[in-house]
Amino acid sequence: MRVAMSACLLGEPVRYDGGSKPSAEVQELAEKVEVVRVCPETAGGLRAPRPPAERLGDRVLLATGEDVTEEFSRGADACAAAIARSGATLAVLKAKSPSCGSGLVYDGTHTGRLVPGRGVLVERLEREGICVVSEEIVRECRPSVEHPVAIVLGSGLGHLGSLVRAVRRIDYRDIDGFPLSARPVAGHRFEATVGTIDDVPVVVYPGRIHLYQGYSAAEVTSLVRHAHHLGCRDIIFACATGAVPGMAPMGLGILTDQINLTGRNPLAEWDGLRDVESPFVDMNEAYSPYLRSLARGVADDCGIEVAEGVYAGVLGPCFETPAEVAALRALGVSYVGMSTVCEVIMAKALGMHVLGLTLAANESGAPAVSHESVLEAAGERAEDFERLVRGVLGLL
Ligand code: HPA
Repeated sequence: MRVAMSACLLGEPVRYDGGSKPSAEVQELAEKVEVVRVCPETAGGLRAPRPPAERLGDRVLLATGEDVTEEFSRGADACAAAIARSGATLAVLKAKSPSCGSGLVYDGTHTGRLVPGRGVLVERLEREGICVVSEEIVRECRPSVEHPVAIVLGSGLGHLGSLVRAVRRIDYRDIDGFPLSARPVAGHRFEATVGTIDDVPVVVYPGRIHLYQGYSAAEVTSLVRHAHHLGCRDIIFACATGAVPGMAPMGLGILTDQINLTGRNPLAEWDGLRDVESPFVDMNEAYSPYLRSLARGVADDCGIEVAEGVYAGVLGPCFETPAEVAALRALGVSYVGMSTVCEVIMAKALGMHVLGLTLAANESGAPAVSHESVLEAAGERAEDFERLVRGVLGLL
């Protein structure tokens, strides 16, 4: 996969002060992908060292007051064109910079105050649908023994758990808030495994409980709170779904967003609220654009067929009526399933980075869908699913 990266993060002395801003995590990622190095400021003809620049409205001004809007614009155009030519769909760019910043930039007063905004290059890239993240996101998503990757597996996908080189096993009954009466359904096992997959620290939860079994939203999200307590910052949810005909094919999919049609929300239940600062959670980018981009890159590199789309979570346990399938299509839904939405809300409330992967085992609304047929379809795609998850873990 090709990834554009700010040259200063790779140690090139191109910053305004003549220095660089090397990031160990970005440099590590650079070893595993094809890198397109960019520096819109030097590409625009600006020399280093020079006074710092900040965005002020549509203009970019040096601390001396000199207007360098033209240079920033020319440099951003050149870099955006180079990135487009390379085919990179992900860019890791220097945080807060007037050219490369995403989310926050300095406010133009040269007082160190940050305001919501984007750099000149980032505006161009986002217009073209390229995912832009800062080095801070790459660092936060980097797993370690203190911050393993949590992986929650759904129906028929539990096999991935057998890849873990186990250090410790945790019975779900020892997990705070997990219902003691819960028994796994066919295809599930209720024991978390802490260990590594291909040397990447992970905690795998090879099975979950569902709202349709009568459990509360707080209970079904107890595994997410447990993962957070263990230090996990990234969490991968894998679930079986029905593909909405005309919206997504059967097979593997990357979830891009969700619609919670369960009528439940863990943040509306006292137990669910225990660990979160505020229940009024921003649900933008609930499925991490960075992790989605890595998954897409792995799929493309490995020739794994993977679609993408919005997931609707329903209460279940019955499958959809034809009218419900039509309604889901009208809502822009690609995948429908009976899990995940409450867990993603909880993960987002806890500040975790979520990757949602699905196996669409049937067409939503198709006659004669059984739990067994879902398990069978999952088994057929298990190998591709495994390659996809291992590929993503390898890039983190
Ligand atoms: N609908 C809802 N959930 C599902 C389906 C479906 O068709 N298949 C697997 N989980």
